[in-house]
Amino acid sequence: MPMPKAKWSRFGTSIFSLMTQAANKHGAVNLAQGFPNFDGPEEIKEAAIKAMKGDYNQYAPSVGLPRLRELLSSRMLKTSAVKYSADDEITVFSGATEALFCTFQAFFNPGDEIIVFAPFFDCYPAGAFSSGSKLVEVQLRTPDWTFTAEDLQRALTPRTKAILVNTPHNPTGRVFTKKEMTDIADFAKANDLLVITDEVYEELVYDSIPFTRMSTLDGMRDRTVVISSSAKTFSLTGWKIGYTFAPPHLTKELRAVHQFTVFCSATPLQAGICAALELPEAYYGQLRADYQKRRDLLCNGLTELGFKFRKPEGTYFVVADYSVISNLQDQMFSLWLTETKKVAVIPTSVFFENPEDIAARQRYVRFAFCKDTETLKAGLRNLGANL
Ligand SMILES: Cc1ncc(COP(=O)(O)O)c(C=O)c1O
Repeated sequence: MPMPKAKWSRFGTSIFSLMTQAANKHGAVNLAQGFPNFDGPEEIKEAAIKAMKGDYNQYAPSVGLPRLRELLSSRMLKTSAVKYSADDEITVFSGATEALFCTFQAFFNPGDEIIVFAPFFDCYPAGAFSSGSKLVEVQLRTPDWTFTAEDLQRALTPRTKAILVNTPHNPTGRVFTKKEMTDIADFAKANDLLVITDEVYEELVYDSIPFTRMSTLDGMRDRTVVISSSAKTFSLTGWKIGYTFAPPHLTKELRAVHQFTVFCSATPLQAGICAALELPEAYYGQLRADYQKRRDLLCNGLTELGFKFRKPEGTYFVVADYSVISNLQDQMFSLWLTETKKVAVIPTSVFFENPEDIAARQRYVRFAFCKDTETLKAGLRNLGANL
């Protein structure tokens, strides 16, 4: 009987872990991996500790604690005036990562095609692979990371089943405009496509720019799976509490997969996120204001150093063109920066399925600004900025 062949080896260790390892090895400032070097509010931690010392240590309902789903329903209503029922439209997952995985498993079959904007978050190809489906890239146009309705049309084939939209967008920091979102919505409706929106950076939008949720656009709520997470909003990326909002017929499928993937997410941490969702509105304003300051600090420093970029409207990333500084290919440049300048970044080519893609071949790296001011300043000083 032959041993089964290795199946997932093409996915290896993610670049985020590799660059963090390299940062530690070379004593570099880690502006690579997208996790804050500070934690969310103490009262959230206290609530989780209290839950753990109390009665929240056994399996939660597979779909999530009822109170958490109620609070998510209220928050969504408040932020976007769309009502989702806690009973059959909201589900709690172990992070947006698990929600994405379950979405791919629930809806796609071998041969199905899913349109996605490149560059894109690195777990999407793994989701497609797990379901035998294929990602079809629409490349955002450099230097402003935009697209046109014609770009969408060109990606369409008879096998297209869905479009996956990440806004605010990792890695570029774009927050797609109402016009761009409406173009996607019209395209989805005209071709009867499912829309998956990855909104994990929903609260990190700057300069009072409006954030357009797909599910708020005419006729879109019932063909959209909204995926989000507590990770970035509450600076608790290690807790892995994510969630979906989707109409009952889609939620039913998602819940079926989730039930046999992890069954339920950590019960006391779900209780902790209930406390997070009870924070006053001022929390979100402060979060945005603090991140906007960090963004401006990093952007000013990078500009002084000669990097070129579109200033991010959201997320905690800047994708910067370093072509005036170096001609090295991006993976080599990232290693060089880590080893000699002591600053770790992510090479942007990893956000493309095909490294031959035009934007992947250009000279871009991603900096993360989810770090305290001192760390950002230390990174910029290592790069040679006058701070
Ligand atoms: C675009 C995007 N989607 C999903 C995730 C994963 O979220 P979670 O930590 O909740 O699994 C991330 C994390 O970096 C992300 O950047």
